[in-house]
Amino acid sequence: MLKRGPYLQMQGPNQIEVCWRTDAFVLSGSVHFGNVAGHLSHTVDARQIQTPFGGTKDWRATITGVLPNHKYYYSICVDRQILHDGDQEQFFFTAPEIGKSHRVRFWCLGDSGTNRVGTANPGKARRARNGFRRYNKQPINAMLMIGDHAYSHGKDEQYQSAFFDLYADELCKTAIFPYAGNHDLLSDDFFYIFHVPNRGEFGGVPSQQMTYYSFDYANIHFVMLDLYKQPWRTLDTPQMQWLEQDLAATSQDWIIVVNHIPAFCHGRYNSDEIDYYRPIQQTVLPLLDKHGVDLHLSGHDHTYQRSYLIDGHYGASNSFSPEKHIKFDGDGINKPIFKRHGAYSGIVHVISGTAGSFASADESGHRSGTLGYPAMIKFENGDENGRGFRRLGTFLLTIDGLELRGTQMDDEGQILDDFRICKVR
Ligand SMILES: [Fe+2]
Repeated sequence: MLKRGPYLQMQGPNQIEVCWRTDAFVLSGSVHFGNVAGHLSHTVDARQIQTPFGGTKDWRATITGVLPNHKYYYSICVDRQILHDGDQEQFFFTAPEIGKSHRVRFWCLGDSGTNRVGTANPGKARRARNGFRRYNKQPINAMLMIGDHAYSHGKDEQYQSAFFDLYADELCKTAIFPYAGNHDLLSDDFFYIFHVPNRGEFGGVPSQQMTYYSFDYANIHFVMLDLYKQPWRTLDTPQMQWLEQDLAATSQDWIIVVNHIPAFCHGRYNSDEIDYYRPIQQTVLPLLDKHGVDLHLSGHDHTYQRSYLIDGHYGASNSFSPEKHIKFDGDGINKPIFKRHGAYSGIVHVISGTAGSFASADESGHRSGTLGYPAMIKFENGDENGRGFRRLGTFLLTIDGLELRGTQMDDEGQILDDFRICKVR
């Protein structure tokens, strides 16, 4: 009867949406929820979502009036039959109050979509997922999608195999903030499956778009950018005008931009050799610098690379000058990077595109890099030229007040990078 889910989205301080899919013959659905497992005193009816997917029905129940940063147990009910009984394992968290400091943790997945339909080999994504499960023993507040979650064309059945099946244990208790990469946008299925806060529901300037939007979470402002489908290459495009307006309007302690395609990279791709990267460097990056963005989180390149705290680097790698562009002398691993608030205070760029595969050096060829981009940290045990890793892994983002911590762990749960940024207001 249950074909997908439950999964959670539209997570705010006072609301959340519980979603699932059933066979087509189901007539109704609802969610029971409450503070205590086994005692679910509230009920919300679900509505059916129109989709082009035959033989199934998608359901969403919007729960409102709940408390911020609170744990609720829930069950879903289909045609008066309870499918999950709201036990100790079936719960959701609401987001903390906007503008307030809380310790919050986000599991970030870049390019995870390799668990392909009907594959005999369950895929490397499962190994990366298991590495995180081995490492992580605490609740996570939400999952951030960095794009490319359903290879090769973002089709509904590809999302089922590579996303909903693979992360089912997390998705039933951890809200997602959906986001599409270039592969996801090769079909329109993303637009029917997901729901994003693009109308300023949780702060931010409304974009009214599915592929780019912003929201606030505790003391963080998140911005999701679409540098693939919607026009973006010049400042007069609606997306760049919205971005400028949105960044100028926020007064949150942290500004984090998620953007599937990085500004520069030297792994599967060499950004010096590919024209696509020029307008990211010359149009988008100056805006991010100007408005004091702290972290720029990308995937697309199936490697892990992380920059120093840098500002004002908009050209090719040979124009990078450590003296001119590095804003803090340190890699943030043993001692935190200290960063002031506001314009031109430096950005740390993270590329974590290894949740589903990694680009091995053997595959390198024309327009590939060798992990040698000079703005990137040189790791003691890094691969090739040391400025990154060609290993499966996922990224954990932790923010606690004015401290940010970024941790990349591999498929064994071993830490590859673990850096901190301390904000000085
Ligand atoms: Fe991609």
